[in-house]
Amino acid sequence: MQSPTQQVLFRDAMRRLNVTREQLGAQLGVTTEQFRAWLLPDDSAEFSTAPESVVNRVNQLLNNLYPSDGKILGLPWAEPIGLGSRHLISVVQFEREGIEELFRLADILQPIARRRKVTRVLEGAVLANLFFEASTRTRVSFGSAFCRLGGAVCDTTGFTFSSMAKGESISDTSRVVSGYVDAIVVRHPEQGSVAEFARATNVPVINGGDGPGEHPSQALLDLYTIQREFSRLGKLLDGCHVAMVGDLKFGRTVHSLMQLLSLYRGLKFTLISPPALAMPEAVIDMASCNGHVIEIAADPIQALHSADVAYVTRIQKERLPGEPIEGLDRRFVMNRALVASACRPDVVLMHPLPRDSRSDAIDLATDLDLDPRLAIFRQTDNGIPIRMAIFAFALGVDQLVQRSMTDAPWWSPRVVGPNDQGSADD
Ligand code: NCD
Repeated sequence: MQSPTQQVLFRDAMRRLNVTREQLGAQLGVTTEQFRAWLLPDDSAEFSTAPESVVNRVNQLLNNLYPSDGKILGLPWAEPIGLGSRHLISVVQFEREGIEELFRLADILQPIARRRKVTRVLEGAVLANLFFEASTRTRVSFGSAFCRLGGAVCDTTGFTFSSMAKGESISDTSRVVSGYVDAIVVRHPEQGSVAEFARATNVPVINGGDGPGEHPSQALLDLYTIQREFSRLGKLLDGCHVAMVGDLKFGRTVHSLMQLLSLYRGLKFTLISPPALAMPEAVIDMASCNGHVIEIAADPIQALHSADVAYVTRIQKERLPGEPIEGLDRRFVMNRALVASACRPDVVLMHPLPRDSRSDAIDLATDLDLDPRLAIFRQTDNGIPIRMAIFAFALGVDQLVQRSMTDAPWWSPRVVGPNDQGSADD
């Protein structure tokens, strides 16, 4: 296997050794400033090359962790119970080591996501992107991720233009589409429907959101984002405090994220919602392990104060009866005033998006858009390397990606948004 870039190696080491950049730098006998320069992409102006002795030392530390080169080969996630093959349906398929394996590949793929490199490892492969519910970022980013690996994408959106409107079953649709493509992403309004889809095919099926059930790829990109933000802030996932705010009952992203985070140790979860939109008991039960503390609250002002991450969700009106919800009021608007009065100065502000930006909405407000703690667009950007990594593993090209990369010949902006800080490299 080709050796990874310095950045990929050091990031992988910090995750697997469970240390901050300060701690790894100290272990290697260098200042945090020096170590930071080694962590940058190699085309960054401040990048510097680490001495060979340091690279060897880090490789040695990793080899000590895996004495028999026992790194996971093959899929970083387990087969879903009762379903064959390589489907990704739920975050319960993951252990911590599998996540580290997936994130390592996502780091390798970052230069492609940032349009500096290209690959054609999936040339000839076709993806079906079947979305029976509204979507912008999940559908486009899964499609873009597949294209950036060299594949092609066929889309269908909504029931109206699909044969399900004619009464076709999920299993017939699944079998038919499987004859046309090499991987399938499905989003569907019913919980459990994507697993049903997977039961009828041997082609890998990825859950793009099953009603109020799960959204595993979103949780993976959220976790990857939290780790990258924490890396800059010198924090670790173990022992951190995550507050989830808003519609925790129907918001599938928080169901998946809470279960994924529960693989780490000693976290504090503060679940802030009106009682009618509380986190389902089943999710809380699954996350009640590894010494986590779970606190339920109904008022953001009181509950946010020590959170390292404040993860806001949209009220899922499409899954709610029209009546007003008791306890849901403007206290739940996450705006500049609330963050100033209730949050830590180094809080990471997250949201899976879309947010409802209408003036009467109870959601994440736009007056935080210039606040560097707002990680929402770093989150969406991270959807590409994470989804590329999922496809690369599902289709067995994970080992080919790195050596297949060549320089991208076209022009692209260094930072994509006018308000981006340009620190996403860090
Ligand atoms: C979320 C979803 O669809 O679950 N969006 C997304 O995929 N990023 C969140 C939402 O719709 O509120």
